[in-house]
Amino acid sequence: MELTRRHFVTGALAGFAVTAVRLPALAASPLTPTTKEAFTLPELPYAANALEPHMSANTFSFHHGKHHAAYVTNLNKLIEGTDLATKSLEEIILASAGDAAKAGIFNNSAQVWNHTFFWNSMKPSGGGKPSGELAAKIEKDFGSYDKFVEEFKNAGATQFGSGWAWLVLDKDGTLKVVKTANAETPMTKGQIALLTIDVWEHAYYLDYQNRRPDFIATFLDKLANWDFAAANFKDASQKKAA
Ligand code: FE2
Repeated sequence: MELTRRHFVTGALAGFAVTAVRLPALAASPLTPTTKEAFTLPELPYAANALEPHMSANTFSFHHGKHHAAYVTNLNKLIEGTDLATKSLEEIILASAGDAAKAGIFNNSAQVWNHTFFWNSMKPSGGGKPSGELAAKIEKDFGSYDKFVEEFKNAGATQFGSGWAWLVLDKDGTLKVVKTANAETPMTKGQIALLTIDVWEHAYYLDYQNRRPDFIATFLDKLANWDFAAANFKDASQKKAA
């Protein structure tokens, strides 16, 4: 099904899987468009202080309230009056990826998507080992959960400058840890994102200063939302089987 922007918005509102993204915990009202076709900033799926002491409300006030909000505002301005104005967020990302003339549109649209995905990749009292089918798949494809942890930590810590570390389901059906620079996002390579951590300095500097490895370790131990990752894995598996 081709997803229009309104499908994205209403799909997310209803908690349905939207292409590769499941956003089950997003609160409803903030996703309602303020104008007919404009993207709006999704509300956090938990209170801004819900992840303390691991991620502070102060960090969210800037990261969500300023950075994520700016990507939404910029994207709306950049696509206004263009043929992308009626497209879904995923369609805009894929249509602008690799096109130097559309670099601003790609950067802002991908960052809108990446950040919404990141908020949902965390939850209060998260972290630790996953369970169920995803846990079995991690053991199979990485050798062990500990090996996955090692790869994920390494990807996040070695991403030079700004970027992201991801757990993805690759086109060949195996789980992989990948890192992306700046706004780059796995969907442009045909990979389905299951879980991510933002390793831009704005994600951790107020709480961890320069200690990015500590931030990544805390994400895995205390914050990772494996329910979200498992739901994304299930959706992706069903799509592949269809
Ligand atoms: Fe960020």
